[in-house]
Amino acid sequence: NTLYEHYDIKVRPKIDLIDSVRSQGVQDLALPAIAVIGDQSSGKSSVLEALSGVALPRGSGIVTRCPLELKMSRKKNGGEWSGKIKYKGHEEEIEYPADVEKKIREAQNHLAGNGVNISEDLITLEIASPNVPDLTLIDLPGITRVPVQGQREDIGEIIKKLIWTYIKKKETINLVVVPCTVDIATTEALKMAQEVDPDGERTLGVLTKPDLVDKGTEETVVKIVHNEVIQLKKGFMIVRCRGQKEITENKSLSDFKKTENKYFKNHYQPLYEEGLATVPKLAERLTLELVHHIDNYLPELRKQIEEKLAQTQVELKKCALDRRLIQDGEMTFSLL
Ligand code: GDP
Ligand code: NA
Ligand code: MG
Repeated sequence: NTLYEHYDIKVRPKIDLIDSVRSQGVQDLALPAIAVIGDQSSGKSSVLEALSGVALPRGSGIVTRCPLELKMSRKKNGGEWSGKIKYKGHEEEIEYPADVEKKIREAQNHLAGNGVNISEDLITLEIASPNVPDLTLIDLPGITRVPVQGQREDIGEIIKKLIWTYIKKKETINLVVVPCTVDIATTEALKMAQEVDPDGERTLGVLTKPDLVDKGTEETVVKIVHNEVIQLKKGFMIVRCRGQKEITENKSLSDFKKTENKYFKNHYQPLYEEGLATVPKLAERLTLELVHHIDNYLPELRKQIEEKLAQTQVELKKCALDRRLIQDGEMTFSLL
């Protein structure tokens, strides 16, 4: 639980600060969202569910068919898990974490039909629990090139346009998911991230599926994570998520943490020791990015508060003046 200790000391006070300022009426304090992008079946939803601890729809083919905003807020003083799903005219409480996957599938069918098409309508899932970090993650449909039967010819372009609207925002951290099984140099998602963020200030690469590559390619994988193949300022990390086999075997997300840990200790000892591997390390890293963002934001926040204060003082003076005029008026009246 070092993540949460670290979190309580470093992150929580800053988030509380932002929250309290927001409740005093200073608007537009955007906490960063983390957009998860990548090719279809690269492992985006898997990474997201591992970070959130909530099972999401995932699998082969097009599964994520609408943008899904996963707003997590951490309950400070313990308490129960609570969930809510919202989309176009709908709002519904979710009683159990195990119902989340089904509710999202229902929402997608409602918004994008039962088939293989996508919709740009946003599904928002709000989760409050003592065991989640204060993060907003956005799961997006994966990039495809060849339409499957039932999809529009221009499905690839439509998906890319949808992804653009999210990744171009300055406050968004782009988490680019690349499976170890593909050539990273040709990864479309990475190219898109580089276009909206040429200096790589807000792009973090995540390698997935290390267990699916041949022994000989391990060296290349290490090079990528060491930022030696494609350079990103924020660099790369590597995680292992549940494969189809582990899901069929009903391996729980929390049990799988141990499997992942053991895997990296055995196969990528150096990366493990450098803190560049595993989902908990990724969560820690994203939390640090959040702190970093808030720190950068504090001068802007101070400016907004000072402007608000000056404006309020002007109004206050005007009120006092008005009151004096009224009193003067009353006095004149009584003298008459
Ligand atoms: P998305 O389309 O990018 O959201 O990808 P998904 O998260 O749906 O994953 C696609 C498939 O890859 C699923 O069957 C996952 O179980 C599997 N998968 C994801 N990550 C890993 C991994 O690290 N190892 C293995 N073996 N399978 C994985
Ligand atoms: Na998929
Ligand atoms: Mg997905």
